Amino acid sequence: MVREADRVRVIVLSDNYVVKPSSLIGEWGLALLVEVYHGGSRKRILYDTGQTGLVLLNNMQVLDIDPNSVDYIVLSHGHYDHTGGLPKLLEVLKTRPTLIVHPQVFDKKIVVREGVLRYIGTPFERDLVARSTWLLETRDPVEIAPGALFSGEIMRYGYPEYTPDMYVLRDGKLMRDGMPDDVALIVNLRDKGLVIVTGCGHSGILNVVEYAFTVTGVRKLYAVVGGLHLEREQRDGVLKVAERLRELDVKLVVPLHCTGVRAVRTLCEVLGDRVLISGVGDVIEL
Ligand SMILES: [Fe+2]
Ligand SMILES: [Fe+2]
Repeated sequence: MVREADRVRVIVLSDNYVVKPSSLIGEWGLALLVEVYHGGSRKRILYDTGQTGLVLLNNMQVLDIDPNSVDYIVLSHGHYDHTGGLPKLLEVLKTRPTLIVHPQVFDKKIVVREGVLRYIGTPFERDLVARSTWLLETRDPVEIAPGALFSGEIMRYGYPEYTPDMYVLRDGKLMRDGMPDDVALIVNLRDKGLVIVTGCGHSGILNVVEYAFTVTGVRKLYAVVGGLHLEREQRDGVLKVAERLRELDVKLVVPLHCTGVRAVRTLCEVLGDRVLISGVGDVIEL
């Protein structure tokens, strides 16, 4: 069984929304600083880097967070809006950081919508980051701080996944992308249960939760924080997700980024004040 963290703090560094007028800025993207406390120690995991780097670095400065204080960088998946800030971040780091990703994060990812093809993968080559980070590519779950797991490849249990229109270019062929690179952070929080952090949630949040139960052996869900990719989902589909989360007795849902405003409203209908509306600059204490 996985260890237990004493406390978790999530700071929203990049997101589609800024909740309070300030010198913080937003963009279409996501970056979260996840602080995991255990005993007397704190580990800082930067989960995603936003789209541009400009937003990430500006907001870190405004919030007085030294980029060099980050212990690990994790990329949730290979889309540009979660990975694009990495090169600018690497430019300002004084030390070589540990970067943990699924090996397929650098795939040539493409979206095809209404017949229009668009590249949406990482806006840099693997070599660029391999040169300036300790790059760990793994499909397996790895404990990166006491009680905090990099999920590795998320098993699918038949719950909805959100990968329509997603393709990958491999050996000159355009193939469907099931997005095996979509990974979560899972923290086992003492006395409370699992905290699950997602990027876009392409694997489907219910698959992520089930997988987190399996890998940790803890079947108690405390909080879900991150993008849930419900923006294009029908109301019925969102209701099913919300009802299942209620059944699991989740205590807090923080829908960010690509969850979608309509879906957030539906989540609120089912989960009431267990839903926290959040955005750039928010500090979520767990
Ligand atoms: Fe996204
Ligand atoms: Fe995505």
